[in-house]
Amino acid sequence: MERDKERLKPKRRQSLNRPPEGDVGDVVVQIEGLWTKFGRTVVHQDLNLDIYAGEIMSIVGGSGTGKTVLLRQMLGLESPTKGTVRVFGEDVSSAQAEQLQQMRNHWGMLFQEGALYSALSVFDNIALPLRELRALPEDVIYDAVMLKMDMVGLGLEHANKMPADLSGGMVKRAALARALALEPQLLFLDEPTAGLDPDLSDAFVDLIQTLHRELKLTVVMVTHDLDTLFALSSRIAVLAEKHVIAIGPTRDVLEVDHPFIKQFFLGERGQRALEVLDDRDAEMDTEE
Ligand SMILES: Nc1ncnc2c1ncn2[C@@H]1O[C@H](COP(=O)(O)OP(=O)(O)OP(=O)(O)O)[C@@H](O)[C@H]1O
Ligand SMILES: [Mg+2]
Repeated sequence: MERDKERLKPKRRQSLNRPPEGDVGDVVVQIEGLWTKFGRTVVHQDLNLDIYAGEIMSIVGGSGTGKTVLLRQMLGLESPTKGTVRVFGEDVSSAQAEQLQQMRNHWGMLFQEGALYSALSVFDNIALPLRELRALPEDVIYDAVMLKMDMVGLGLEHANKMPADLSGGMVKRAALARALALEPQLLFLDEPTAGLDPDLSDAFVDLIQTLHRELKLTVVMVTHDLDTLFALSSRIAVLAEKHVIAIGPTRDVLEVDHPFIKQFFLGERGQRALEVLDDRDAEMDTEE
């Protein structure tokens, strides 16, 4: 009888919802009861996600689980079918165009594709947000662009080059410099290291780490790259079954018993990346 009951219980997969460790800042991005439908296809179903100030939050999930759509909803580029997305306390989906533009002054975005305008030089690409959003004198813009190029380690001699004349790594740096042009408090990265070879990818990770430390940015990142994920994330949110099934520090997420998590993190690639995580923890221990 008891055993029958046991058998009839629906099989429960483990889920996880852990806030960040240590001193927690304000909630910067708050997603509540979010649904996204395209025709009959349900992409997100009652999805909830809180991202706190100063975190590097990584979002992972299988292809087509709606990670990019979710980022676009946080940026106010798309509206959810139902539910709310608040950024710095403001409801992004109901904001007026002008208000949204104001809000965008406080965040930067780096997209995998179309990262730079091909018809504009590196300088003009980075200057664009400054020119668009603030009536600044050219010499102020010049100084700001140079500062950002320096910050991302892009030699000033590249300022007048066209995007087509840059290597992949330099394009990413220039796009990051543009994302940082308005000194955002919040930075969105969609697959920042995709298409970079491992050395460049490591350099990019170091760069994000330094910027995060120095500018105290909140970072929201989507990535398939485990090395990047383990090296940078304060927490990881796992998107599966149309919502966030697990959110927490990397090691806690790895312990969640869910087929996607097993498949994504464990395996050879995962083992190698875990060593990176161990190294990082060891480094942090010696710093303390
Ligand atoms: N404008 C749209 N109209 C119809 N369907 C869409 C639209 N935008 C996205 N979708 C669908 O929503 C789903 C989620 O897309 P999304 O690009 O967010 O996935 P993703 O998690 O970023 O995937 P990947 O890891 O491959 O980048 C996909 O099935 C996609 O086809
Ligand atoms: Mg995507």
